[in-house]
Amino acid sequence: CQVAVLISGSGTNLQALIDAAAAEDAGFELCAVISNKADAYGLTRARDAGIPAAVVSHRDYADRESFDRALIECIDGHGAELVVLAGFMRILTPGFVRHYSGRLLNIHPSLLPKYQGLNTHQRALDAGDAEHGVTVHFVTEELDGGPPIVQAVVPVEPGDTAGILAKRVQQREHSIYPLAVRWFAGGRLRMDGERVLLDGELL
Ligand code: GRF
Repeated sequence: CQVAVLISGSGTNLQALIDAAAAEDAGFELCAVISNKADAYGLTRARDAGIPAAVVSHRDYADRESFDRALIECIDGHGAELVVLAGFMRILTPGFVRHYSGRLLNIHPSLLPKYQGLNTHQRALDAGDAEHGVTVHFVTEELDGGPPIVQAVVPVEPGDTAGILAKRVQQREHSIYPLAVRWFAGGRLRMDGERVLLDGELL
């Protein structure tokens, strides 16, 4: 399965996917890494791994529609079958989401449906939650609202700051994202409306 990864920043999730793709039985290959920011460190990770890396800057386009059309052209031009958002900090248009319906994944650092949007770690701390975590989900037109595929739960410890909690969550991100991509690549994972099927069973 050919996978395109969209990033905006450091790309630690991208690195986890690069490492997972190197396994003999991975079943997927990264065909492109695309960033909307030219200085994203993830682009260096891609180049170091010999993966085609491209910049499509939102600043070069007048509106979201034309930016998303350029993204689609780049993604499809690399032959991607699955599109993985890994810290990609742009809101995508309904047209983009529809184009990749059922083959567009995101990772969001909260136990969705809790804490959609930004600053999730601080919000979990402020709420006094005992547990926090991360969700991999199919992307639909509702921001951070698509059906979940897999979650990982971490404890919130006394004295945690948002930064400490983020690190604990990120360690889990780096195992569940490759897991979901392997499932998809193996033909085991399917979005059916608002539901997700793994090996034909509802999740
Ligand atoms: C991760 O925390 C992810 O959950 C969120 O953006 C961050 C990306 O980090 N969507 P990285 O660029 O993969 O290090």
